[in-house]
Amino acid sequence: MIRVAVAGAAGRMGETVCEAVQGAEDLELVGRADPLLQSSLEEVLPDAEVVVDFTQPDSALENARACLHAGVDVVIGTTGFDPSPLIDGAAAERPRANVLIAPNFAIGAVLMMRFASEAAKHMAKAEIIELHHDRKLDAPSGTAARTAELMAAAGGHEPPAIHSVRLPGLVAHQEVIFGDLGQTLTIRHDSISRESFMPGVLLAVRRVGSLPEPVVIGLESLLS
Ligand SMILES: NC(=O)c1ccc[n+]([C@@H]2O[C@H](COP(=O)([O-])OP(=O)(O)OC[C@H]3O[C@@H](n4cnc5c(N)ncnc54)[C@H](O)[C@@H]3O)[C@@H](O)[C@H]2O)c1
Repeated sequence: MIRVAVAGAAGRMGETVCEAVQGAEDLELVGRADPLLQSSLEEVLPDAEVVVDFTQPDSALENARACLHAGVDVVIGTTGFDPSPLIDGAAAERPRANVLIAPNFAIGAVLMMRFASEAAKHMAKAEIIELHHDRKLDAPSGTAARTAELMAAAGGHEPPAIHSVRLPGLVAHQEVIFGDLGQTLTIRHDSISRESFMPGVLLAVRRVGSLPEPVVIGLESLLS
C-alpha cells in the first residue's frame, strides 16, 4: 500500500483525487490538507509517502518544498506557478524525494500535445485556443503553455499565440489550429469531467518514487 495525502483536498480536483485514491486497492488515503478543512500540510505529512497537490499557484511551490524537506514524494497538478526553483534546487543538492509536475493528467491531452508537436514540424503557422471554467485562477492554462513550448521546440518556430476563454459550463478544453497554403488542421481535446485526470494522477502516484530524475515535468515521460 502507498500512503497518500492530498493537498487542496476540499477543492474541485482534490475531492476527486481523494475519491480515486480511496477507490484504488494499492493506495491508502492518509490525510486531507486544506485550509477549508482546518488541516495543514504539515499535519498530514508525517503519515504520507506521497502528497498530491492540487492547490493554488501561490501555494504549490512552498508545499513542494515542505514535502521534499520531509522526504515525501510529491505529484503536482497545480498550474500557473514557475517550477524552476524546484529544478534548480534539485540540481544544486539531490533531494531525498522526487517531484512529478504535470500541467495535464488526461491521457487525451498528452496525446493532443504530442500530435500538435508533430504537426508543428510540417505546418506553417498555428494558434492555440484554451477554454476553461470561469473559476480557474491562471491564464493561459499550464497545458496551453506546455503545448506551445513543445511545439516551438519541435517545429523550430516562435511559440504559437494562445487565446484564453473562461466561461461557466466548461471544464478543460483546448484546440490547436494549424494553417498552411489552402488548408487548416484542428487538433482538439475536451475533458468533460474531472474523472478524466484520475488514471494519470494514480499512475503518477505509483511511479513518482522511481523517477529517473528528482524533478520530472509532464505525464508523457511515464507513458513511453
Ligand atoms: N494538472 C491537471 O491535470 C489539472 C487539471 C485540473 C485542474 N488543475 C489545476 O489544479 C489546481 C486546483 O484546481 P481546482 O479546480 O481543484 O481549484 P479549487 O479552487 O477548487 O481548489 C483548490 C483548493 O486548494 C486549497 N488550498 C489553497 N492553498 C492551500 C494550501 N497551502 N494547502 C492546502 N490546500 C490549499 C483551497 O482551499 C481549495 O480548496 C489549479 O491550479 C488548476 O489549474 C490541474
